[in-house]
Amino acid sequence: MSAKTSIIDLKNKKQAAEKITMLTAYDYPTSELLDEAGVDMILVGDSLGMVVLGYEDTLSVTLEDMIHHGKAVARGASTSMVVLDMPFMTYQISREQAMSNAGRAVQETGVDAVKLEGGKEIAKAVEGITGAGIPVLGHLGLTPQSVGQMGGFKVQGKDLQTAQKMMEDARILEQAGAFGIVLECVPRQLARLITRSISIPVIGIGAGEHCDGQVLVYHDVMGLYTGKRPRFVKQYVETRKEMEKGVRAYVEEVKNGGFPAGEHCFEMDEEILNQLDNKPGS
Ligand code: KIV
Repeated sequence: MSAKTSIIDLKNKKQAAEKITMLTAYDYPTSELLDEAGVDMILVGDSLGMVVLGYEDTLSVTLEDMIHHGKAVARGASTSMVVLDMPFMTYQISREQAMSNAGRAVQETGVDAVKLEGGKEIAKAVEGITGAGIPVLGHLGLTPQSVGQMGGFKVQGKDLQTAQKMMEDARILEQAGAFGIVLECVPRQLARLITRSISIPVIGIGAGEHCDGQVLVYHDVMGLYTGKRPRFVKQYVETRKEMEKGVRAYVEEVKNGGFPAGEHCFEMDEEILNQLDNKPGS
């Protein structure tokens, strides 16, 4: 069995210009599938709130939700690195709050790292968590936990000021000890500059081809999410249509008696059956 992907493996991949692969998962079978398919990193994203729990955004997701799903994903991955999203308001209040919640998340789930959204404003939290020995993945650009402040799910860093801030934030996160950064929904040219300006891997989502790796939401890739699909998503399979076909066929066969057939049934001893049948009142 090969060893788990480590933060050193990821840095080596960046140096060797070998692309890093990452997908989200929220349960055991998906985690097992991604692990077996050779995905480097599995993200237990708080996108959980939208694609699995049916919320409109990620803000309602709790630490308990993340721990519940994180445990299942951690059990399914033997070689992929598992990263767990710290949900909204579990790390913003203080360095101590961030350390205590990140510690709980790792201890209770068995995941390998945590992910936090934001730049300069969370640097102290990143320092505290990495200082305690927990690997941290940063997240810049479109940060869904601040969607209200950003005025919606929009491309970030298009003007000089916000682009400069993002470059500065990337450097701050690197200095604070983050082992990598997710860069979401930013122009490809800015993503290229950021990727080249720091020594830690940059994993893009809607950030173009120059990043050190790519991440997507599993439900988008598989065609399982019925909500709005961002332009940067590529759907690789029509899974939902296939699943619906299966469910419709099952309903039809139960109704028309086609299921269960003989091979799905158990038999019983004739003699015992006769005794039951002959019992008064049967
Ligand atoms: O929650 C999530 O799935 C994420 C990805 C979109 C990077 O943060």
